[in-house]
Amino acid sequence: MSGSSKFAMTPSPTQKSRPVGTAEAAPVLSAHNLTKSYASRAVLRGVSLQLSAGERLALTGPSGSGKSTLLNCLGGVDRADSGSIRFKNVALESLDADGLTEVRRRDIGTIFQFFHLLPTLTAAENVELPLQLNGIAPAIRTARVRSLLERVGVSARAHAFPGQLSGGEMQRIAIARALAHQPAVLLADEPTGNLDSVHGSIILSLLRELSDETGTALVLVTHSGAAAQICHREIHLRDGQICERLDND
Ligand SMILES: Nc1ncnc2c1ncn2[C@@H]1O[C@H](COP(=O)(O)OP(=O)(O)OP(=O)(O)O)[C@@H](O)[C@H]1O
Ligand SMILES: [Mg+2]
Repeated sequence: MSGSSKFAMTPSPTQKSRPVGTAEAAPVLSAHNLTKSYASRAVLRGVSLQLSAGERLALTGPSGSGKSTLLNCLGGVDRADSGSIRFKNVALESLDADGLTEVRRRDIGTIFQFFHLLPTLTAAENVELPLQLNGIAPAIRTARVRSLLERVGVSARAHAFPGQLSGGEMQRIAIARALAHQPAVLLADEPTGNLDSVHGSIILSLLRELSDETGTALVLVTHSGAAAQICHREIHLRDGQICERLDND
């Protein structure tokens, strides 16, 4: 795998092309009948969904409807109380903590709503960390980190620590970190929530290009109509249940 193959600096296409072959392809990620409660309060109440390679799914719904909880379960950050999640052909609930960590490290990218950058690492080191954990060679790591920081527009802050960054800069570093290991699935929790409209649209173009170029499947939690527009489908969550499924094509 070359350091720059999946992150070419090409201008963004404006079309929202369907991923090739999704009708026949097995889903890369699927969830069946997920439930999750906190202190006996049901937060997810039987959520099912499927995602194919290259597909972009918007997850919308009011504050508190369970979007981040669902994303955390899909990405193996948290476990559902019941139901099943298959990533490629692996049932996440069958994995122990180490197995789950391995899948997340290799194949899943997560952009957390509140970033979760490591405060003692610089911006560039935060982005480099998943590559180090995956054993990527130093020269490739350096090239990929530089390319990603440029692409999200924060090269000038590469050596700053998270505590020295603005909210929007932290968000863009978190996006670069989630993309660094070229995951099969990217779970993005309001990735433009802290950005102005110019930077927001740069990030949306980046996410769209990435999934078109590399087949990365995307689940995008958003309150923004513009963000939902880059997605092929939309699921609307209310009180922990899917109340609407929309096809944007
Ligand atoms: N660790 C937790 N312990 C207890 N309750 C929790 C916990 N995490 C989330 N909740 C509750 O679960 C519900 C769903 O939370 P979640 O963060 O999934 O909502 P959301 O749809 O992402 O909202 P927002 O749009 O505000 O980010 C909320 O009522 C929240 O208070
Ligand atoms: Mg949330």
